[in-house]
Amino acid sequence: MPRLTAKDLTIEEKLKLVIGGDHWGTNTLDGKVRYVKMVDGPIGRRLVVSEDKQGRETILPSIAYPCAQALSHAWSEDFAYELGKAIANDMIDVNADILLGPAVNIKRTPLCGRNFEYYSEDPLLSGNLAAAYIKGAQDQHIGTSLKHFCANNIEYARHYCSSNLDERTLREIYLKQFEIAIKESNPWTLMCSYNKVNGTWMSEHTELYKFLREEFKYDGTVVSDWNSVHDAVRTMNSGLDLIMPFKDIDYKRLKEGYEAGEISDDALDSAANNVLNLIYKCEDASKLRKRTMSIKSRKNLAYKLAQNGIVLLKNNNVLPLSNERLVVTGAPVLRYKAGNGSSKVTLKEPAMTLDVALQNANFDCIYKETTRYVPNGQGMMCGTDVTCREELLTRDAVVIAVGNENEFESGDRETIKLCRAEEDAIRHLSGLGKKVIVVLYAGAPVDMSSWIGCVDAVVFASFGGQYQNEAVVDVLTGKFNPCGHLTESFPTCLEDVPAEQAYRDVENFDYDEGLLVGYRYYTTSNYPVLYPFGYGLSYSRFAYSNMDVKVQNDMVKVSFTITNTSDVDGIDIPQIYVGPLSCEPDRPIRELKGYARVAVKKNSSKKVTVDIPMDRLQYFSINTNKWEPCKGKLTFMLGKNSRDIIIEKDIVLA
Ligand code: GLC
Repeated sequence: MPRLTAKDLTIEEKLKLVIGGDHWGTNTLDGKVRYVKMVDGPIGRRLVVSEDKQGRETILPSIAYPCAQALSHAWSEDFAYELGKAIANDMIDVNADILLGPAVNIKRTPLCGRNFEYYSEDPLLSGNLAAAYIKGAQDQHIGTSLKHFCANNIEYARHYCSSNLDERTLREIYLKQFEIAIKESNPWTLMCSYNKVNGTWMSEHTELYKFLREEFKYDGTVVSDWNSVHDAVRTMNSGLDLIMPFKDIDYKRLKEGYEAGEISDDALDSAANNVLNLIYKCEDASKLRKRTMSIKSRKNLAYKLAQNGIVLLKNNNVLPLSNERLVVTGAPVLRYKAGNGSSKVTLKEPAMTLDVALQNANFDCIYKETTRYVPNGQGMMCGTDVTCREELLTRDAVVIAVGNENEFESGDRETIKLCRAEEDAIRHLSGLGKKVIVVLYAGAPVDMSSWIGCVDAVVFASFGGQYQNEAVVDVLTGKFNPCGHLTESFPTCLEDVPAEQAYRDVENFDYDEGLLVGYRYYTTSNYPVLYPFGYGLSYSRFAYSNMDVKVQNDMVKVSFTITNTSDVDGIDIPQIYVGPLSCEPDRPIRELKGYARVAVKKNSSKKVTVDIPMDRLQYFSINTNKWEPCKGKLTFMLGKNSRDIIIEKDIVLA
């Protein structure tokens, strides 16, 4: 059948084509073109097979991979590529065309309910991981949807708030990850966000879509987030191509608007052609698709990512465990933990509970309910129950599972503290004179200040997918040497978070902190944090030496030696921070410009070179209002994390 373009279509067909055909796909124009099927989501396939009158969805069960935060803790583009490839295989199994992910919004505040679904507070790391994930999926001939464009950094007010930010902040922090992903992997679609940017809805942001096409050279299809369109005519004139999902009101508005001359033919033809391009891209791709990963290999990947997504935050020489008699407690022991919303996968089989995973690892382990959650957050604590207390005293160590019950799409956390019952339980059980190990299931930072001092170890399990508890036990027992590193700062308290100090009213969120988001703020202001961006412990110990920085053509080559001084093979993630990029006001004193994931055998060394493209050292000048090359003295910092800088080297760029 000949391939159509907009000029081959009637006006009615064009108007139908630029609106979804139903909730999850495109209009086939009565069979003239292929149906393009879109399915969530970044963490695993979430195919909605039915919805009842109350809007309750039935989801086809699938493999639940670790969340984006967990994936990011591995600082590995290879893993991100593998995850994109695996979920693409899950999509191929149900004849889907577009995987609605990755989600790359910057973690401006730890309160954001969807931080678990995003990668980092840093745009370079976010963009690199997104680009790899997209390549992984699209190499399987499954399209992706880079989302949510842009500056969607909170959830509760996403449908009505305006993110207000200056051009430098927008370009360097909130667009940079989209730029990296688009230029490196060209996602077939890009999904707009619900919010406004500087007072204009993103579903009709002409200026940013022009920017997207002209500066980022994006030639894919721009899709609205579901029900994010406020006026279909303004949306169509803005450069967005496909309004999702189908709503009769949108079709009628477009039809009336076109007939009233409110929609330009150019805009309508451009959108229709971009939708046709997507349709034919999917048609061609569908002929090339085939399963390249078995279900078992996908599950093995989910397990591996869960292990690598765990961050060891504290260890007073109590881990790894050996043969301690354990008591495990805390509600998350018995429940699969994941963030909620359009990314939540329905498991095919129940996830293993933490106590059973420990028993399977041959530990003498009992489960005791610590707190009975009652509405007001009070709980009856195990230690006050005599029988339980006596039993506890016969044990060597207490493993307390705690976690966020409050991370979900369209809502934000009220606090970054654990609930009162969990904090009380930790403090109480720490008074028994036993080793206390906390396992934290959360997709965003937690304020541990009221209890961190009374526990011996903290294992940050993130939301590790369906194999999270097997992975946690592998770390607790030393079967897996933890190597995760934080990609979002853990502040000492919410009040320290710059975004929580910035101006906000019901509708306006002023990004007053500018570039100083996350570690950029804490390092520049020398503010203490609980755990810094880039931080993570291991059972190995690593030392850095012999750092050298050389400029070769358009690359800065940073080389150094990493030595594993322990008797345990391990993986480290050395990071390269650079700064300040210019003496312009309010610039961060250091910014992540390179990193490596390095496996080093026990008692051995490895020479590492990290290449930093010169254009990564550019900055958007508030004086010239364009990207400028960095000139003059520049400090390159080799760090274990954003605070623990081991070696510095200055170079001068002409
Ligand atoms: C949701 C989300 C988006 C998701 C889409 C389809 O509102 O914001 O991430 O892909 O709608 O479920």
